[in-house]
Amino acid sequence: MPEFQTSPGMRDILPPESGRWRRFTAVFADVVEAAGYQQLIPPLLEDLGVFTRIGDATDVVTKEMYDFVDKGKRRVALRPEQTASVCRSFAQHRPTVPWKVFYSGPNFRYEKPQRGRYRQFDQVGIEVLGVDDPMLDVEVIALGWEFYRALGLRQVTLQLNSLGEPDDRARYVEALRTHFEAAGEQLSEQSRITLAKNPLRVLDSKREPDQPFIESAPQIADFYSDEAAAHFDAVQVGLRALDIPFVVEPKLVRGLDYYRRTIFEFLGGTLDSAQNALGGGGRYDGLVEALGGPATPGIGFALGVDRTLIACDDEGCFDAEAPQLVAFVVDVVGGLEAAVLTTDLRAAGLSADRGYDNRSMKAQMKLANRSGASFAVIVGEQEHADGTVVIKPMHGGDQVTIPRSELIAHLSETTNS
Ligand code: HAM
Repeated sequence: MPEFQTSPGMRDILPPESGRWRRFTAVFADVVEAAGYQQLIPPLLEDLGVFTRIGDATDVVTKEMYDFVDKGKRRVALRPEQTASVCRSFAQHRPTVPWKVFYSGPNFRYEKPQRGRYRQFDQVGIEVLGVDDPMLDVEVIALGWEFYRALGLRQVTLQLNSLGEPDDRARYVEALRTHFEAAGEQLSEQSRITLAKNPLRVLDSKREPDQPFIESAPQIADFYSDEAAAHFDAVQVGLRALDIPFVVEPKLVRGLDYYRRTIFEFLGGTLDSAQNALGGGGRYDGLVEALGGPATPGIGFALGVDRTLIACDDEGCFDAEAPQLVAFVVDVVGGLEAAVLTTDLRAAGLSADRGYDNRSMKAQMKLANRSGASFAVIVGEQEHADGTVVIKPMHGGDQVTIPRSELIAHLSETTNS
């Protein structure tokens, strides 16, 4: 066992899986760029205050943050998510609205590692600042949906809820507090602690003793103002018009405190219930203001790369595939020929690898085989003397000897046919 291993909850993403990650981000960028979103690359590290504004009733902020004092004595943290950074960026740069951005990259939460739950995990996401229109909520949700379709996922379901306007939410939270406090000691100990901090999150409890009280809890829909109800209705009408199936889940509250009005979650069909949220999002209309910017409505989502790829594995779509090399150059006359040939091939857009260390023909052919290349391009003594190369198809077919000068044309033609 080597002295160093990755820390708990941190992983190396090795090839060919790493290639799949890159394609994942590329597919996401294609989907959202087609809808007018542009990439924002926020830093991994921010002033701690950026994240504490997410709210002090969420574990992500109070328990799971990687925060520390840097050498300049600043309290900083590795980002646990990117919505707060996007809002900080908006408040700092004041771009014109609507500001439609997407992002991808790692986040850090000190969680208990398990399948689908890591301490460093990647997300892709979008955020839009400056638009109140419920049709934007529909667009945002539809883009998440479309992305899952683009990956080939078919078992994802969409849960939707509205937390109402801030006043509605506040009244609802008080009603929940009264309701759960009446349960007293019958609530699980953990939920009693949660209740003191954020009664909404008690609705998230999966613990057995809490279930009857969750069942009988007041319903958020009874607290909606007319505006909140109209907004939520319009979102549902829009989703129906786009044929996006959804379930209204009145107990959906989400784990972060900044949400107002529309919230949603995409659930995988195959994962354990503790890890089946592939992604989620919602409106966070007060967050930019909390970060020192002008009052600005905002909405977005983030999708977990790890969990979505687990769902892809389970559904048998969006496989990891090693990139297909066109040529593997086998040079048994010193290695210089291979240097020139691979350079020429790559310059012509034909991927090429080679053997090193002047190894025997047999050893290099073994490498060519293992590389998965479509063709071995062989230069032996005879070819070297004649200015020719042998092209051997690696997946069946006859080998041919051709002049070196025809190599690129020959391989271009064969790979395109
Ligand atoms: P979140 O629900 O905390 O929301 O995270 C979104 C997704 O990130 C989750 O559904 C999950 O797939 C993935 N995820 C979260 N924690 C972990 C973890 N420890 N390991 C693996 N995957 C994880 C947000 O982060 C909000 N910023 C979403 C948002 C954007 N709301 C509005 N705009």
